[in-house]
Amino acid sequence: MCGIVGYVGDKKAASILYDGLKRLEYRGYDSSGIAVNDGFNIDVVKKKGKLEQLKGKIEDNVNGGTTGIGHTRWATHGQPSDLNSHPHSDCSQNFVIAHNGIIENFQDIKKYLLDKGHTFKSETDTEVIAHLLEENYENDVLSALKKTIENLEGSYALTILNNKEPNRIYVARKDSPLIIGIGENENFIASDIPAFLSETKDFYILEDGEFAVIDQDNINMYDFDLNPKEKEIYHVDWDPEMAEKQGYEHYMLKEIHEQPDAVRRLMANRVMPEGIDLEELNLEEEFLKNLNKIHIIACGTAYHSGLIAKYMLEDLLNISVEVDVASEYRYRNVPIKEDELVIAVSQSGETSDTLASLRKAKQKGAKVIAFTNSRGSSIAREADEMLLLKAGPEISVASTKAYLNMVVAFYMFSLFLAKKQEKIEEKEYLEMSGDLIKLPDLLDQVIEESEKLMEDKAKQYAKSENAFFIGRHTDYTLALEGALKLKEISYIHAEAYPAGELKHGTLALIEEGVPVIALGTKESVFEKTLSNVTEVKARGADVTAIVYNGAEDIEEVVDHVIYIPEVNELFTGALTIVPLQLLAYYTALIRDCDIDQPRNLAKSVTVE
Ligand code: F6R
Repeated sequence: MCGIVGYVGDKKAASILYDGLKRLEYRGYDSSGIAVNDGFNIDVVKKKGKLEQLKGKIEDNVNGGTTGIGHTRWATHGQPSDLNSHPHSDCSQNFVIAHNGIIENFQDIKKYLLDKGHTFKSETDTEVIAHLLEENYENDVLSALKKTIENLEGSYALTILNNKEPNRIYVARKDSPLIIGIGENENFIASDIPAFLSETKDFYILEDGEFAVIDQDNINMYDFDLNPKEKEIYHVDWDPEMAEKQGYEHYMLKEIHEQPDAVRRLMANRVMPEGIDLEELNLEEEFLKNLNKIHIIACGTAYHSGLIAKYMLEDLLNISVEVDVASEYRYRNVPIKEDELVIAVSQSGETSDTLASLRKAKQKGAKVIAFTNSRGSSIAREADEMLLLKAGPEISVASTKAYLNMVVAFYMFSLFLAKKQEKIEEKEYLEMSGDLIKLPDLLDQVIEESEKLMEDKAKQYAKSENAFFIGRHTDYTLALEGALKLKEISYIHAEAYPAGELKHGTLALIEEGVPVIALGTKESVFEKTLSNVTEVKARGADVTAIVYNGAEDIEEVVDHVIYIPEVNELFTGALTIVPLQLLAYYTALIRDCDIDQPRNLAKSVTVE
C-alpha cells in the first residue's frame, strides 16, 4: 500500500529511484512519480498506471541530479490520476514531498491554507503538507517540519526535498513504515527493505515520532522535539535473490514452492526430536502454567491461521481461545484479564488494524506476543515479545509461505504450551514433535503430487463464476483460506462453509457443474463430511476432494481426489493448504489475471 523511496549519493538518482519503486511494486499501487534535485531544479514526473508508463517520461524530463524521492500511490483521497500522483509541491516549488498514510484533518488545514492564499493542484490530503511547510518555513526546514507535523492528525511516512539544500532529504514517520538504508557515499530511504536489498543490508528502522536528515555521508536522527537520537543498525541476513523471481513466472508460484524451506527455517533450533524450545518468548513459567485464555487478533489470511490455532489449542489444552478480525476487535469492548495472553499475527507487522488492536490489548494490561515475518516492524516493536516467522521476503500480495509459517508457528506454540501445562503425555509430545520435523519433506511431496492435477482442474474451474469450499474442524478454516486465495487472485466468487452448514441455505446454489472443493483430512469427522459431499454431488456439483491417506471410500463419490500424506491429524492443515494455493494460482493464470498484484489490493495495509 503506497511505496516510498529516496536516494542521496553520487550516482544519478532517477534510475535508482525507479528500480527501488519496481521492487516495491508488490505493495500495490495505481500511479507513481519521482522528483530529482540537481541543485538548479527539482524535476517532478508522475503518471497514472503502471511504472512502465512513468519510465518513458523519466528519460526526457528528469535531470541527472543525485538526490531524489519516488512514490507509488494507492489512491485514498482523489481518484488515480497524473495530478493526484505524488510527489506534490508547495506554491513556490521549494518543497517537494511524497507521503504514505492519511492526513485525517486535511480538510481543516486546506481551508486554513486557502484563506492564506495557497493554491492547490491536486485533490489529495498530502498536498496540504507541502503548503503547510511553505507557510511555516523561516530559513530552517527542520523547525518548519516540527511545526508542520504538530498540526497533522493521522499517519505519515514523509520524504521531503528542498530546493535550497540540493543534497539532502528530510523524513518523518508516524504510524507508517520508513527505513533508511546505509551505503558508502550514498544513503537510501524506503518503506520496505526489499527496495534496496541489492544496495545494502544495513538499515536504520525509523520509529514513530522520529525525523531524519539524510545527506550523502551523514544521517542525523531526532525525536519530534528535535532531540538527537542514536539508533542501532539493523542488519538483515536476506540475500537479494530471495526477493527476485528466480525463473518463476510469478512470485506467488515461487513462494508456494519455497514453503518447505520456509518451514525448515522457522523450525530450526526450535523444534527438535526431544521437543520444542520457545524459551525465546521469555514467558514466565507461572504465567504459562496458569494461562487459560488466549486471544488471537489478525486480518485476512493471518486471521485464518488464528482459526486453525483455536481448534488446535482447544483440542490439546482444553483452554479457551478467541480469534478476532482486528478491524472488529479494535472497536469491540473485549474483556481481557492480566493473566490472559494476546497473540497478534501479521506477516508485514504493519497492518493498521492489527497494530491498533495490539495497542488496545496492551492498554488493558494484557501480555502481547507478535507472530510476524518482519523483525523491525511496528507490531514486532510494540509487542512484549516476538516469534519471528522467518518465511523470508514475501512479495506476492496473496500470502502463501507466510501463512504456512504462521500455522506451523501455532503448532509449535500449542505443543510448547501443552508441555508446560503438563497436558500432554511425554510419548505423544515426542511423537508430535517428530511429526513437525517431517513437515518440510511432506510439503515437498504434496507440491510434487498435487501440482499437475491442480493445473488440470484449474483449466476446468477457470470458466466458473462461483466455487464452494467445504470442510469440518480445521478443514473448515482451510476452506476459508482456499476460498480467499481463489477470489483474491482469480476474481472468481468463492465461499467457504462448514460442511454441515450447507443444508441450512447454501445448498440452494449448488447446480450442475459448480466446483466444490471438499476437505476431508480429519479421520474423526470424515464420515460426516462424506455425507455432505454426497449431498452436493447429488445436485450435480463437480467435486475435488482433498482427504487423508486411507479415505479411499470417497473415490466412488467425487470427481478427483488428492491424498494428504500421513501425519498427526492436528497437523494436516499445513499440507492441505498447498493444493488450494496451487488451484488458485493456476486458475488465475488461465484467466490471465495480474497474479502478484491483484486489482484493488495491497500487500501492506497501513490504513484503516
Ligand atoms: C491475503 C492476504 C491478506 C493479509 C492481510 C493481513 O492473501 O495476504 O489477507 O493476510 O492483509 O496482512 P498481514 O499479515 O501483513 O497483517
